[in-house]
Amino acid sequence: MKKPRLALIGTGGTIAGAASAASVSTDYKPASLSLAAVVDTVPELRQRYDIEVSQPMQLASYDVRPAHWLDLHRDVMHAVNNPAISGIVITHGTDTLEETATFLHLSVNSEKPIIVVGAMRPATAYSADGPANLLDACSVAACPDARGRGTLVVMNGRIHSGLWVTKRHVSSVEAFDSPLAGAVGEVADLAVQWFRAPGRAPTVAWQAPAVWPRVDIAVAYAGVDDTAIQAFVAAGAKGIVHAGFGNANTPTAYRALVQSLPAQGVMVARCSRWIPGSVTRASVYDDAAHGILTAGPLPPHKVRIAMMLGLAHGLNGPALQIWIDQILQSA
Ligand code: SIN
Repeated sequence: MKKPRLALIGTGGTIAGAASAASVSTDYKPASLSLAAVVDTVPELRQRYDIEVSQPMQLASYDVRPAHWLDLHRDVMHAVNNPAISGIVITHGTDTLEETATFLHLSVNSEKPIIVVGAMRPATAYSADGPANLLDACSVAACPDARGRGTLVVMNGRIHSGLWVTKRHVSSVEAFDSPLAGAVGEVADLAVQWFRAPGRAPTVAWQAPAVWPRVDIAVAYAGVDDTAIQAFVAAGAKGIVHAGFGNANTPTAYRALVQSLPAQGVMVARCSRWIPGSVTRASVYDDAAHGILTAGPLPPHKVRIAMMLGLAHGLNGPALQIWIDQILQSA
């Protein structure tokens, strides 16, 4: 029988990490092995799938920048447009895995399964989780029922929507969760089980931006003043995500400043510094009158990506809010 052909795209991370000893699982150098070498540790991969490996970058994901997303998008689209490829697997560091997954979920319009996978322990550890995670990711990428679900994340036997998944533990192999939304499926012993169909968010009509609009995150804390927000505006921010207290509460100390920014051409989104829950639009802040956005339960770093993508594709003001609302409703 013809084997499904999968495109495996390596970017580095802990799944390709190496430590000084097999007993070491948290003190190591990410992005030390090539993806081809990692694939060779799982012989079953080439037995079950026809695998194409590419490696557009090799870095720890704490060094991933929006410019890297452009390279990744190009390579994903290359695989999407190859009719011989059934599914795509991207190996990635876990620190910004959820940001890359959100970016792809909101910018790649394809029915093909796109899976982002990482590992919490380096490839050299006795208890490395990368090999099993990679095999699981390929099982999902080759699963016909994975089509049309947008970008998915597979970690520790669980399948998550790329939009909702987030890292919740610094070192446990069970580090990823989708607060409020929940996992969409599981994979065990090569078998994929779906709990529900994750919604497909509306994607932007992708045009690689020549320059990404700068969007910063201003985090609230007791006693915070306007220093960070003023600095972001001075640095040329086109958007600011205000990660406020609780239900996105904004300190009185700089509320008027925040409210004045949209009229100056700096979009503002209010969200929570991150407690799971849907931030409500508030009359007390006069969100509508001041053109301030809200993004339900999306955490600040995902709101930032939605704003960057929207602004880069000409969505501004109410049009940006409508697109964000459509994303939220797609859950
Ligand atoms: C990284 O994100 O590249 C380092 C941490 C990890 O992959 O778990």
